[in-house]
Amino acid sequence: MAHDVQVRTTLPGDIDALLALQERVYPAIDPWRRDHLVHQLKVFPQGQLVAELDGEVVGCASALVILWDEWAEEHTWQEITARGTFSTHNPDGFTLYGAEVFVDPDMRGRRIGQALYEGRRQLCRDLNLRRIIACGRLPGYQAHAPQMTAEQYAKRVLWGDLSDPVLSFQLREGFRYCGIMKDYLPQDEESCGQASLIVWINPDFDPSRPTALQPAPTS
Ligand SMILES: CC(C)(COP(=O)(O)OP(=O)(O)OC[C@H]1O[C@@H](n2cnc3c(N)ncnc32)[C@H](O)[C@@H]1OP(=O)(O)O)[C@@H](O)C(=O)NCCC(=O)NCCS
Repeated sequence: MAHDVQVRTTLPGDIDALLALQERVYPAIDPWRRDHLVHQLKVFPQGQLVAELDGEVVGCASALVILWDEWAEEHTWQEITARGTFSTHNPDGFTLYGAEVFVDPDMRGRRIGQALYEGRRQLCRDLNLRRIIACGRLPGYQAHAPQMTAEQYAKRVLWGDLSDPVLSFQLREGFRYCGIMKDYLPQDEESCGQASLIVWINPDFDPSRPTALQPAPTS
């Protein structure tokens, strides 16, 4: 892990830096809206994390809680995040859903992504949630799309024949690959609009207790 990287919850004062960073990370994808980020912080402040290095915001990981049974079938990023507002956040759920993670393009490969993912795993443990689920981009797929389906591409990444900048990172972070989510983010040309459904199971989840977001049972 990068020694001097600090992962902390996002503050309203980080929004300008996050908007600027997101434009550099995804020049070809519609930028976030300021009011959506404000809303994310309002509905689930604990779920929004930034990585800070020498006082600068260099990455972020944003999440919401969902009832996975309501979303397990095919869905899009727009649907499950309510167009990025996180109005779909449901404190009754047992699943932390990773909606976004990115690191400054000039700062990649320094374990900042790993620090953000560890922050997310710690949040999952702290809230006593069962798991983290996400639909990850497959930015290496476009170059292979003429030869294979996204499913075949993901399998080759799993087998170690190919490396993907996002899926390989997520597998190394302990996530399991569960399949392809088609048309997840149609604007994402590098991934041909497709994403890999991935899960991390919280080993400390205690089903006998409510999650920290659920009301305690009355005796
Ligand atoms: C995915 C992403 C967040 C990873 O962030 P990161 O900070 O670069 O991640 P890490 O540094 O923890 O690990 C990334 C790579 O650096 C390597 N690395 C990092 N530190 C290293 C070290 N000290 N020695 C050797 N290798 C190292 C890792 O092994 C890994 O290698 P790989 O690319 O061959 O798999 C980043 O690539 C990103 O922002 N991508 C664009 C946005 C995106 O698509 N996000 C995913 C949305 S689903």
